[in-house]
Amino acid sequence: MKLQGKTALVAGGGRGIGRSVALALAREGVQIAVADILKENAEAVRDEIESLGTKALACKVDLTNRFDVEGMVEVVLGHFGQIDILVNCAGWDKLDPFVESNEETWEKILAINFKSVLYTVKAVLPHMISRGSGKIVNISSDAGRVGSMWEAVYAGAKGAVIAFSKSLAREAARHKINVNVVSPGLTDTPLLQAVRCQSPETEKIIDAVIKATPFRRVAKPEEIAEAVLFLASPGADFITGQTLSVSGGLTMA
Ligand SMILES: NC(=O)c1ccc[n+]([C@@H]2O[C@H](COP(=O)([O-])OP(=O)(O)OC[C@H]3O[C@@H](n4cnc5c(N)ncnc54)[C@H](O)[C@@H]3O)[C@@H](O)[C@H]2O)c1
Repeated sequence: MKLQGKTALVAGGGRGIGRSVALALAREGVQIAVADILKENAEAVRDEIESLGTKALACKVDLTNRFDVEGMVEVVLGHFGQIDILVNCAGWDKLDPFVESNEETWEKILAINFKSVLYTVKAVLPHMISRGSGKIVNISSDAGRVGSMWEAVYAGAKGAVIAFSKSLAREAARHKINVNVVSPGLTDTPLLQAVRCQSPETEKIIDAVIKATPFRRVAKPEEIAEAVLFLASPGADFITGQTLSVSGGLTMA
């Protein structure tokens, strides 16, 4: 248990990939702050973690609100005294041809997928710098690496997460802080189910992506969590600024 005694803040940890990340870290003895806008979900994940014998805290937070995020980080630091690992898992999307999309949807996509990452990192980084250590893992998407049909704005936001993480990795290395990205392909979560059910067209798009995936299936959220676990571990101490696709071979560049 190389991570025993560490503390992680899992933003968007209430369900889907974030929940699996929180549980995977907890199984390694990591104390977890589960931060999510869905309070009951955050509390349910906290209870699951506690049943594993690990300490956990549930925080209701709107990650698109900077002041809310700052307050949440203060609460987590007050409770655990430290944050060694920050994982940004919140995300949201609505599939649309770009020409039919509207600004309200753009704002929501950019806020949840990109600005939330800026807010959590801005709030946690001074603490990590003062301790001279830390691991940040941001969840992007293969859409942000190679583009994706009807996801132009989402792909833009996820590409921004990758570019931001690389740049931050350069700044943070002098403080012994690693910044990396995990880039899932299609993953079996409530978000994917919602997107698939949007319309017959979105169902076709999703099915086409599965066909284009060499392994011909979607990922289990636990498979994404394994990659996060590695990047959060001492085994990844010399890895920074990297993007690791966990997408069954969908993208290989
Ligand atoms: N599922 C996929 O196919 C897939 C593919 C590629 C990338 N991703 C990315 O993986 C990450 C996790 O996605 P998921 O599929 O588990 O989604 P999900 O919807 O199942 O889980 C996302 C979590 O983020 C939380 N969240 C959303 N907005 C929030 C806000 N404003 N404040 C606080 N919490 C908020 C939700 O409540 C939810 O618990 C996202 O960044 C997503 O873009 C998912």
